[in-house]
Amino acid sequence: MKFSEGEWKKTKEGETEFIIFKDAERIYDSSVFYNPEMTINRDLTLLVLKMISKQKTEPLTILDPLAGTGVRSYRILKELPSNIIGKIYTGDRNPIAVETIQRNIEEIGFDDKLEVKHSDASITISEFIKKQETIDVIDIDPFGSPIQFIDSAIQVLQKNEGYLFVTATDLQVLCGKYANACLRIYNSIPTRNFLCHEVALRILLYNLLISAGRTGVAIDPVISYHHEHFLRVKVKIIKSKEKANLQHQNIGFVYFCTECSYFKSAKISEIMESTDCPVCKMRLEKAGPLWLEQLYYREYIEELRTVLQESDMPSKNEIEKKLTRMIEEAESPPFFYFLPYVLRRLKKVGIGIQMIIDSLREKGYIASRTSFDPQGLKTNASYQDLSDVIALH
Ligand SMILES: C[S@@+](CC[C@H](N)C(=O)[O-])C[C@H]1O[C@@H](n2cnc3c(N)ncnc32)[C@H](O)[C@@H]1O
Ligand SMILES: [Zn+2]
Repeated sequence: MKFSEGEWKKTKEGETEFIIFKDAERIYDSSVFYNPEMTINRDLTLLVLKMISKQKTEPLTILDPLAGTGVRSYRILKELPSNIIGKIYTGDRNPIAVETIQRNIEEIGFDDKLEVKHSDASITISEFIKKQETIDVIDIDPFGSPIQFIDSAIQVLQKNEGYLFVTATDLQVLCGKYANACLRIYNSIPTRNFLCHEVALRILLYNLLISAGRTGVAIDPVISYHHEHFLRVKVKIIKSKEKANLQHQNIGFVYFCTECSYFKSAKISEIMESTDCPVCKMRLEKAGPLWLEQLYYREYIEELRTVLQESDMPSKNEIEKKLTRMIEEAESPPFFYFLPYVLRRLKKVGIGIQMIIDSLREKGYIASRTSFDPQGLKTNASYQDLSDVIALH
């Protein structure tokens, strides 16, 4: 193809050099958006692909249908061992994004493993529903909500128990600033309060589960996290109606107090006897329906940390910290206490979170910090037991 006139420049992320249009790093009005702040998102993509490839005998086939500049796919091809990647199909509806990818294929040379299509992502994904060729991983990385692409992606992936990677950047919706939009798009009530990010992540997983369940498959979360302005979940599709049925029993709500941070989760089938806070009698706020199971499995995160140690990537230290925190909180039940509210109620000052965690552990409780909030405390202790432990300090 003939490339349009204008200034193009080379840039580099990780070990990968690639070409972008000169205005690509402008946030609001670039021709094709390239956001270096999403490097950690792409680093973790590479890491999880490396882990997945260890469990597969064949090279991976990947679909990146909202590719932008194509940076994610270039990095996969340049930075992962070439024998683990079979083919990457990219696409974008923006013609300049497609031109960027074609220019990179021709000038940088990403061999015949990379293909690009100028198309709407829904069409790109749907074409694989009828094709014989299976896809191992679909990466949905849109501006805003990924929701419109989930059903078709799961239909493709259910053929061979593939993996679905999803980014959501519509945190104003999922974290409750636009609660009506959350109810409309995700069929769930969000919160703006201290549990907002964990609730948002669980609303997103609930939506993946609902979509999977309709197709008769289940989901296994490999990793789910919140980072700055985005959420990211990576799940494996499991062909099991029985597992899907069980997972649907674990959809539910969280009820929590915005005064003292008492919380209680309840499955969708349960009837709450009271929605008043048993501690301070305030009316409890409710969020959901949402996913009440684990956000990831400890074994996956430990394995990822091992793979990370053998790898080199720009956000290596940040990812190492994130994975360590996830391992720490892996055994804790969903949701957390917001310590400033608990301490305020007990009229206590100057007690550090680590002291409380240590005391809870000494008494045999599970207790940890949480990646969702530096002042959050995850534990299986009841509110009363936590208060008793704090009272000893
Ligand atoms: C957040 S950017 C993608 C960034 C890229 N994945 C990366 O890692 O740098 C979202 C891209 O999706 C494209 N896009 C948005 N809606 C689309 C749709 N319905 N079909 C295809 N592309 C779409 C936009 O043109 C944009 O390039
Ligand atoms: Zn309360």
